[in-house]
Amino acid sequence: MVKLDLGGCTSFVKDAEYAEYLKKALAAFDTLESGKGEGNDFLGWKHLPSETPDSLIRECEAVRDNWISKGVNLVVVIGIGGSYLGARCVIEALSHNFSKQLSGEKKFPEVVFAGNNLSEEYLGELAELVGERNAALVVISKSGTTTEPAVAFRILKCQLEEAYGRSEASARIVAITDAHKGALKTLSSQEGYKTFVVPDNVGGRFSVLTPVGILPIVLAGFDIREILSGAAEMEKSLALRSEENPAVRYAAMRNLLYSTYGKKIEVLVSYNPKFQYFGEWWKQLFGESEGKDKKGLFPASVNFTTDLHSMGQFIQDGSRVMFETVINILKSNRSVVIGSDEGNLDQLNYLAGQNVEHCNAMAELGTKLAHIDGGVPQLEVTIEKIDAFNVGGLLYFFEFACGISAYILGVNPFNQPGVEAYKKNMFALLHKPGYEEQTAAIEKRLEK
Ligand code: PA5
Repeated sequence: MVKLDLGGCTSFVKDAEYAEYLKKALAAFDTLESGKGEGNDFLGWKHLPSETPDSLIRECEAVRDNWISKGVNLVVVIGIGGSYLGARCVIEALSHNFSKQLSGEKKFPEVVFAGNNLSEEYLGELAELVGERNAALVVISKSGTTTEPAVAFRILKCQLEEAYGRSEASARIVAITDAHKGALKTLSSQEGYKTFVVPDNVGGRFSVLTPVGILPIVLAGFDIREILSGAAEMEKSLALRSEENPAVRYAAMRNLLYSTYGKKIEVLVSYNPKFQYFGEWWKQLFGESEGKDKKGLFPASVNFTTDLHSMGQFIQDGSRVMFETVINILKSNRSVVIGSDEGNLDQLNYLAGQNVEHCNAMAELGTKLAHIDGGVPQLEVTIEKIDAFNVGGLLYFFEFACGISAYILGVNPFNQPGVEAYKKNMFALLHKPGYEEQTAAIEKRLEK
């Protein structure tokens, strides 16, 4: 399960200060657990691991099996922000690095993502792929009105209708949206799409264990029951009110470093390329939950050792504004041993007989010590290996810690008012009906 080691912070903070922040974290834990804090109508994520009915998973499996029986080999999952990052992070963490290139028959459809940008090139190239393959769509939008997924859906839906006819296209589309309202809900009822519900009391970035994440993960062939069971074990252990609770400790330390030591940036570090999208999910979780009222740690992510050859210089030696949270993975799921070479021109014989993962572990330890020496505190979150159970536990660990942490900071973890500003300008610039005044104002501003 998830373990937290704060040993890499001890030389930076005083025990008494940490003890004070532990108290604040326990008070924030109480706020979260009592359900009386700001944003308390969005706490539905807390019991998803233990309360998700198996019937929901079976319903998702039925969609998958039905599509497989039609020969579907490509599913485009359309969504943005919380309506896509959770599924993508889990699928990438659990996928074979080269699943696309490996030969052999694929048991499950390939899952690709759309609606998370407005790049014409991306959509045009995706349309080429959809044209070549036997495709289906999952469109996810809680509000049902977000522009990016709506644009992608309009284009891909039209393509599916042209390829398969309107009725068969409808059988190849599933919508995940609000139970009652929104354009996507209305369209789904009109066209007869199968729908799943995004619960009212779960915000986008906390929705990976609702149908928003469950359906894409099931479609891609991964074991959602194991993911939920890892998350359920975390749910149980993090519910204990204790100074030993790892979510309480993590939230306490990151707030102490931020408030007292000027560490304004938290860098999530992993040593496995499969965790790149975990970093993206984590950045949204903490960035949208905490970055408001002119407060909050800026969440960044890197993948080592790759980024030690790019960002490593800055982290070691640049502005001392960050600390690192390292995801430490104890065991590799593979065994690759470095061989001996007679010529030893690369001078690697000293590593002969060693697993590559041993080198990775030594790079991790060496980096930790170097970064501590360079003034970068280290928090370490350890899991045993990358599998469905541990990934589930890690998701829940960060969700729960995020709730506590934002309450320590004194912000509402569950809203995102700042996201609206760009939308208003974009709508005005695109001449959206209803934005006439803003259009006139913005065009005047741009004339200057
Ligand atoms: O976390 C959030 O609430 C956001 O990132 C949303 O998920 C994102 O903006 C997409 O919204 P919607 O699902 O309404 O299309």
